[in-house]
Parts: sequence; structure tokens; C-alpha cells
Amino acid sequence: MLPWLSFEKAKECLLPGVPSQDHNMVTGANKGIGLETVRQLAAVAGVTVVLTARDVKRGTDAVASLALPNVVFHQLDVQDSDSIRSLVDFICAKFGRLDILLSGQAMNMIQGVIKTSYDKARECLNTNYYGVKRVTEGLLPLLKLSTYGARIVNVSSLRGELWRIPNEQIRKELGDIETLTEQKIDGIVDKFFHDLKNDMLEVNGWSMMLPAYSISKATLNAYTRVLAKNYPNMCINCVHPGYVDTDINWHTGTLSVEEGAKGSVLLALLPAGSPTGRYFDQTEVAKF
Ligand SMILES: NC(=O)c1ccc[n+]([C@@H]2O[C@H](COP(=O)([O-])OP(=O)(O)OC[C@H]3O[C@@H](n4cnc5c(N)ncnc54)[C@H](OP(=O)(O)O)[C@@H]3O)[C@@H](O)[C@H]2O)c1
Repeated sequence: MLPWLSFEKAKECLLPGVPSQDHNMVTGANKGIGLETVRQLAAVAGVTVVLTARDVKRGTDAVASLALPNVVFHQLDVQDSDSIRSLVDFICAKFGRLDILLSGQAMNMIQGVIKTSYDKARECLNTNYYGVKRVTEGLLPLLKLSTYGARIVNVSSLRGELWRIPNEQIRKELGDIETLTEQKIDGIVDKFFHDLKNDMLEVNGWSMMLPAYSISKATLNAYTRVLAKNYPNMCINCVHPGYVDTDINWHTGTLSVEEGAKGSVLLALLPAGSPTGRYFDQTEVAKF
């Protein structure tokens, strides 16, 4: 857990006046599937959405474009610990708890990752895997205070499905929920970087289709499962949105953002007792 907000400190933030039937949530982003998810969730009665973006202008413009009274902006760069800290302080002061967290910012860097330069791969993992982890850890004390059992949704990709990784040992380690830990997942990321540096990705059986992006999503899925195991009273899932028409694929996607947001919205609003620790292909449970 990040050091700035302990569970005890978070409890002190509980605001006496916050109506418990109202749900609040944090999500990115200023465009694409994230923005459409905000639009759909903000239409649900009683939900206040904190739309985040790393760029203040792009974020405030996005909020203005929605013109919805229950959407507020806060800056968030998932690579920047100070930015995460500021978001945590904001949520704490404004709501005293957090009910729903949707994560899944990704850089439009697939082209760069095709060549898989070491620096680009670091940036990719630092955003898609470590970035989500940092934000989740920062907000967990407030998620624990949700009065109805928090929902966490991590936006993943079919590129992270385990069958796509040729190396059986890696598949086994990432797929065995009994023995999986955060340390093990981080160890797999380290191994990936070792092999990337030494030009051994192919020989050691890593996925060669967008290697860094693929492993960032495979580890994100594994992290989602570990979280779900650790917090059984929450609903924590990950979702592949489909092949959606956004900047990330230069608008080659075949689904609209409205369709792409459906899975995230469904998982954000799951009723109590719903599946947790699962991977969804859009709105259906699928195999990791
Ligand atoms: N579109 C698809 O077909 C598809 C398929 C499978 C999975 N996905 C997943 O769906 C999610 C959303 O993707 P999208 O298609 O909506 O892509 P997008 O339109 O390119 O949106 C990506 C968003 O992530 C933000 N972002 C990037 N780095 C960030 C950082 N360090 N901190 C905060 N925000 C950051 C971007 O902000 P800026 O505007 O500042 O760059 C942008 O708002 C991603 O996780 C992606 O991997 C998409």
C-alpha cells in the first residue's frame, strides 16, 4: 500500500453527510472507451463520476463536452505518484470513500511497441500494469470503506489471454490462482525485461505479437485475480472491450465506443454476489 493513506486514516475521512445510497466512482479518461464509459455511468441515477486525465486541458474539455452535472474532473497521471496522491486526497475530502474504480488507461503506443524498444516497453508496462497497481493501491483504503462492497474494473485486452503465450511455464505461473502473488507477477515482468534486453523474447516463448502490450495485459489480468482473492467482499474483474474504433488502433476498430463501454459499465454496476476475479470478453465471462 502506498504510504500516504492508511485504512485507519481513511476511516477518519468518512464524512457524516455523505448519503450512503449514492455511489461515486473514479475512471479515466478524456477520450475513447473511457470517456464513453463516463457518459454511460453518469446516466445512472445516484452516481457521481470523477473523470480523470493526465492533461488538465484535455480532461476539462472532456468534462465540458459531456455537460453533465454529476461528472467532475481531477487530474491523474498513472505514472506519477504525486498525481495519484492528489487524487486520493481529493476523493477522501469530497466523498470520504470510493465505491467504483475503473482503470485501463493505455498509451497510444502500439506502433512503438511493435518494434519493442526497451524504453517504450518500460513505458507500456509502467502505464498498463504498474500504473493500474499504483492507483488501485492508493485508493484501496477508500474502496474498503464503500458501504456496499466496492467494484473494481480493469480494462484489459484479448492480447493478454494466456493461450497466446507460447511459454508453458509462464502460462502456468500466471494462470495458477492458488499460488499466484503480486511478487510472482512482478517477477514475471522482470523476466520479460531481462529477455527483452538480451534479445531472447522469441526463444524464451513470449508472445511476439505486441510483446510489451500483451504482457502488460496478461499481468494486469493476473493482478486482478490476486486482488479478487484478497478482497472477497468486493467485485473485482477485468474486461476486454472488443475491437473498438478509437485512437489506440487508428480507428480501425469495428465496434463503436458505445458498444466498447458496455462491458465496463456492466462490471461497474454488478449487484452484490456477482462474479469476482473473472475475465470478461465484452459482457460474457471468458477464459483468462
Ligand atoms: N480500442 C480497442 O480496440 C481496445 C481493444 C482492447 C483493449 N483496449 C483497451 O481499452 C482501454 C481504453 O483504450 P481506448 O481504445 O479507449 O484508447 P484511447 O482512445 O487511446 O484512450 C487511452 C486513454 O488513456 C490515457 N492515458 C494514457 N496514458 C496515461 C497516463 N499515464 N495517465 C493517465 N491516462 C493515460 C490517454 O490520455 P491522453 O489523451 O492524455 O493520451 C487516453 O485518454 C485501454 O486499456 C486499451 O488497452 C482497447
